[in-house]
Amino acid sequence: MQNFDFYNPTHIVFGQDRLAKLNTLIPEDAKVMVLYGGGSVKRNGALEKVIAGLGKRSVVEFQGMEPNPEFDTLMKAVDVIRAEGVTYLLAVGGGSVMDGTKFIALAAKHEGDAAELLKHSFAPPPVKEALPLGCVATLPATGSEMNMTSVVTYKNQKYPVMSPLTFPVFSFLDPDFTLTLPKEQIANGVADAFVHVIEQYLTYPVNAMVQDRFSEGVLKTLIDIGPVTYRNNDDIDARKNFMWAATSALNGVIGCGVPQDWSTHMIGHELTSMYGIAHGRTLAIVLPYLMRERKTQKHAKLLQFAERVWGITQGTDEEKIDQAINKTEAFFNELDIVTRLSHYDIDEAGIDTLIQNMKNMGLTALSETGDLNLDHVRSILCNAL
Ligand code: NZQ
Ligand code: ZN
Repeated sequence: MQNFDFYNPTHIVFGQDRLAKLNTLIPEDAKVMVLYGGGSVKRNGALEKVIAGLGKRSVVEFQGMEPNPEFDTLMKAVDVIRAEGVTYLLAVGGGSVMDGTKFIALAAKHEGDAAELLKHSFAPPPVKEALPLGCVATLPATGSEMNMTSVVTYKNQKYPVMSPLTFPVFSFLDPDFTLTLPKEQIANGVADAFVHVIEQYLTYPVNAMVQDRFSEGVLKTLIDIGPVTYRNNDDIDARKNFMWAATSALNGVIGCGVPQDWSTHMIGHELTSMYGIAHGRTLAIVLPYLMRERKTQKHAKLLQFAERVWGITQGTDEEKIDQAINKTEAFFNELDIVTRLSHYDIDEAGIDTLIQNMKNMGLTALSETGDLNLDHVRSILCNAL
């Protein structure tokens, strides 16, 4: 296992009907901005309960953060925060709302050009202060409710921003708020959480026994409850497990002391930027073909994945690996996610443009060792056509 630091200060309040606790988590004299998206929080009752939970505190609402939150929209919230003297942010929604709120928390305290904050990739931007923020998560998928990452769209490109200042102070995970999710969002969330685990697990062995077994547990949970949740809206036990699995997939625990490979995400982000395909779906398209491309480099972990996650015991090592990759693709297909680019009307010319965009963004040496170049990316995407 490699050396690591682990820091995660987010207080999780898990379970049904917990929002009364808001009153104890936000200072009484706070001026709170409640931020949300296109209105789902009005339909699932989250907004009403949040406002009630805030009691007598002064509240400003900011509505309209779009999926894949846009820099310009976020800066409008910053203007309101400055004008109104807001001191606390409360995100109510999915990953986009939580991510957008994190960026707003940084930008509101940043003196210079906020677009500068986007240019630091996986390193923290050089800022000393952010507004405190809390979350009420309504879509299990990104893990944003318990990590320091936000992903912001700026001039048609997606930029990760990672700052320890943007860990939520607290996050409410109430499965009841997810019951209004359309089926395709459940599928997207299951795929996203699954791939978050894979990006931290499917590299090369470093004998990190706890992280490996924790990762395998989250993957097996998603395999068990993903299709159940997708088909049956009333299974609240499955929904609870889905929520905690998604949070556990990207709150830092399984990534401690292990190599990581965020290639599927980097390629997927380009598919979202160029074609507007939902985040989780892009990952489900890329991952099976990336696994096939990287069978040699990832051999040992792919075999472990085949045996321990999919329970495959018959055949040669090669056959077990092939079966595991096919089962992974079939798992996404079972959630009605089509894992072919042609389904989204993407052709070789589109792949050329995508490769050029990745080059422009400096994304030319991906993978756990930096040996995945743009020729490999082209091969992965051409095989996925
Ligand atoms: O805008 P509203 O009306 O709220 O509707 C949303 C949106 O249209 C809807 N929705 C959310 N909760 C709902 C609901 N509809 C009905 N009932 C509910 N309970 O779902 C739609 C999609 O929401 P969005 O927040 O965009 O989805 P998701 O949670 O998948 O977030 C995707 C964003 O997260 C980023 C992605 O790049 C993308 O921008 N990511 C963030 C990460 C992180 N912070 O660590 C990591 C991820 O890999 C990812 O990159
Ligand atoms: Zn993701």
